[in-house]
Parts: sequence; structure tokens; C-alpha cells
Amino acid sequence: MKRIVILISGRGSNMEAIVRAQIPGAQVQAVISNRPDAKGLEIARSFGIAAVALDHKAYAGRDEFDAALAAEIDRFSPDLLVLAGYMRILSDGFVRHYAGRMLNIHPSLLPCFTGLHTHRRAIEAGVKVAGTTVHFVIPELDAGPIVIQAVVPVLPGDDEDSLAARVLKQEHRIYPQAVRWFVEDRLVIENGRVTVRDAQAGSEGWSVPPVED
Ligand code: GAR
Repeated sequence: MKRIVILISGRGSNMEAIVRAQIPGAQVQAVISNRPDAKGLEIARSFGIAAVALDHKAYAGRDEFDAALAAEIDRFSPDLLVLAGYMRILSDGFVRHYAGRMLNIHPSLLPCFTGLHTHRRAIEAGVKVAGTTVHFVIPELDAGPIVIQAVVPVLPGDDEDSLAARVLKQEHRIYPQAVRWFVEDRLVIENGRVTVRDAQAGSEGWSVPPVED
């Protein structure tokens, strides 16, 4: 059984998608938020999952907070740490500690539009497609070996909210898929690239067609 801890900062819809996926061989042990008022904590509790708030404002700095966070996470001995709308920059030490076992989802087709306000910036740039990326976390922000991406069209008349909603639907499909692959030990990182062992043709890491069942 692979043990999963999920970090959130807010709504928690990606966390919920992963929990609802009921991935065989995996168990979400805890959901931890750096914001005590995160809606996702309530959702986690409603599933009977340990929900912990660790307020970053109570710590002197990033290193102190990340050390406390890692201590809290490690109480649950996770095989995989999942960042699901976790909106804090991570210290290098924290990233190193979870190297190769920490995934993040970002609402753009990386390496385009790292950072914040991705949908607004995509619309402003006039791109015709947008999307989302699940990747392993490295110290550089919104970078790291890419596991899976999904693409959506940017439609005439789209605003930030309509595009965000279209992308979010895809996030809810590809994040459980990426976690499932990790749990099945099928993700191989080589030279900064991820291959999915024994993937069905067409589902190796992009996802306009359906992800694997
Ligand atoms: C998601 O769109 C996720 O991709 C994004 O925050 C949202 C969280 O929603 N993450 C980032 O921007 C990280 N850089 P959720 O709390 O409902 O899952």
C-alpha cells in the first residue's frame, strides 16, 4: 500500500479528485494546508482523512516553516507527496527531502506560463491552446520532469474564469492518472524526462484522448 500526503492551500478540488479516484494500492493518509481556512480541509474531513492546518504565518521564515511542515508530513511516512493547489514556494532543502516522490500540478502547458495568473496571461498572449501539466518537483519553480499534460482550446470570448474552468476539468482527469502511474511504479525519470512503463498507446503522457482506465 502506497501512502500519500496531499498539500493544499485552498479549494482542494484536485485533492478531492484524487481521493475520489480510489486508486488501488494507494491511501491518502493526510491533507495538510498552510492556510487554516482552506475549504479543502473540510472536504478531506468529510472523507475521514486526517486534515491538518499548519499556518505559515506562525513561523519566522520559509526554512522554519518548511522544516515544521516536513516534520508533520513525515509523521504519515508518505511514499508520495502531492501538491494540489499548494501556493507556497518551497525551500531547496524541502524539495531535496522529497526528490523523486513529490508531484505538482500547474495550470498551464509548462514550460509556458510558470508562476501566477496563468490563464489571464495565456489569453493576453493570444495562444490558441492552453492546458495543464503534472510534473515532478525540482527546486526551480514550476519546472521538473513532466508526467502528463492535457490540452484545451482557448475559445473566442474566453475570459480568465471560463478558461480556468475548462482547464480545471482536465486537471481532475490527469492528476489522478499521474498518481495512479506513480503508485503502480510505472514512472521512470531519465535525463529529466519521464516515461510511463507499459502505457497504452496514446496515453503516455498527454491527454486530449481519455486517460487510461
Ligand atoms: C489548480 O488550478 C492548480 O493547478 C493551481 O491552483 C488550483 C488549485 O485548485 N495550482 C497552481 O497554480 C500552482 N502553481 P484546487 O485547490 O481546487 O485543486
